[in-house]
Amino acid sequence: MINQFGTIFFCPSGLAASKFVLGAARLSVLRLECLVDFALRDFQSVDFETLWRIDQKCFPPGIAYTKAELKAYVSAARVFTVVAEGGPGGAGIADSGRESVTILGFIIAQANRRGIGHIITIDVLPEGRRSGIGSSLLGAAEQRLRNLHCDRIYLETAVDNMAAQKFYERHGYAVTKTIPGYYSNGVDAFVLMKDL
Ligand SMILES: CC(C)(COP(=O)(O)OP(=O)(O)OC[C@H]1O[C@@H](n2cnc3c(N)ncnc32)[C@H](O)[C@@H]1OP(=O)(O)O)[C@@H](O)C(=O)NCCC(=O)NCCS
Repeated sequence: MINQFGTIFFCPSGLAASKFVLGAARLSVLRLECLVDFALRDFQSVDFETLWRIDQKCFPPGIAYTKAELKAYVSAARVFTVVAEGGPGGAGIADSGRESVTILGFIIAQANRRGIGHIITIDVLPEGRRSGIGSSLLGAAEQRLRNLHCDRIYLETAVDNMAAQKFYERHGYAVTKTIPGYYSNGVDAFVLMKDL
């Protein structure tokens, strides 16, 4: 849907997609149909602090990135980062310098020189989950990697992260191997792959 600022907002409910053109009195009713509004856009450097705070909420100590690690990933060659921005007044972490901007999640991906894509991380805040944000971020990254001539994509996820495994299975990823002790807390990782 297009909001009053001209941004495309995604919403799982077709009914709720009309809420911005309806009267204010109906907004609260229609919000029940669409719990989270969001729009995808490219990362901007001013988002960095917010993304780091989101990562701290999404992963346990030892797996969550330090600021230096996250900075290195978003700045690396052939890397792109897509952000899911919350609707006006919606859920998400507010940017301290831009009170009207809230971010619900993000994905960082890289296209290597051999035509293989890598999902470095995907993070959706707990309050935004099961609303299609992760799927939209993953779909956007897959499409961008296809455009960059990648024909495969892979990623690592912790063997005890059942939500992520269900999520990736739903999107056609299959486990190819296990890397013992991959994470700094000693947890093993599955490597998952998908043809694009
Ligand atoms: C994994 C993650 C990115 C999914 O994001 P999301 O926005 O909740 O995903 P979606 O709403 O698009 O979910 C799509 C489907 O994935 C599956 N799924 C997602 N979370 C699930 C869960 N907790 N349990 C079971 N299935 C789940 C479901 O099939 C879901 O469809 P449904 O809601 O219609 O049943 C999110 O849970 C997250 O950020 N987790 C913390 C960080 C992380 O583990 N990242 C991945 C490892 S790198």
